[in-house]
Amino acid sequence: MKKIKIESFLEVYPSIKELPETIFSLMQSAIAARDKAYAPYSDFTVGAALLLDNGEVIAGSNQENASYPSGLCAERTAIYYAGATFPGVSIRSIAISAKSRIKPTLTPIPPCGACRQAIAEYEIKQGTPIALYFMGEEGEVVKSDSLENLLPLLFTSKYL
Ligand code: THU
Repeated sequence: MKKIKIESFLEVYPSIKELPETIFSLMQSAIAARDKAYAPYSDFTVGAALLLDNGEVIAGSNQENASYPSGLCAERTAIYYAGATFPGVSIRSIAISAKSRIKPTLTPIPPCGACRQAIAEYEIKQGTPIALYFMGEEGEVVKSDSLENLLPLLFTSKYL
């Protein structure tokens, strides 16, 4: 038996104001999208904004449904729209912001496992890393250089 240690490296910015200009503005798009979320059941609103290689910014928010599992997270709403609208155009960065209507969200809120898997599919397909930035409604912003940091032991098409 051998043991394997898995390490991830993340960067933490003290606030949105410390982000590089392009990412600051991408996060502003995520926040604007977040405020358009359709989240009557959880009252938890999420916005995601993608910066594509062609300069386009694609934003999405979570869309809930009375039949709960039929709803979709903000990240996948945005990434599937980007894939459908600009097939073949790489995604450079993703900014995510989450805010609850019930309690303050002052710590960085990472994307759920299903969204990580979905984002990873695009990272592998395009062959270049996708930088991911996530935060709550305010406070620190966490940066991951690649999805690999957030989803080690990823299941990919190579196993099929
Ligand atoms: N949600 C997202 O939009 N992204 C995530 O990564 C986690 C959760 C949404 C789904 C649901 O509408 C609400 O947040 C509560 O789970």
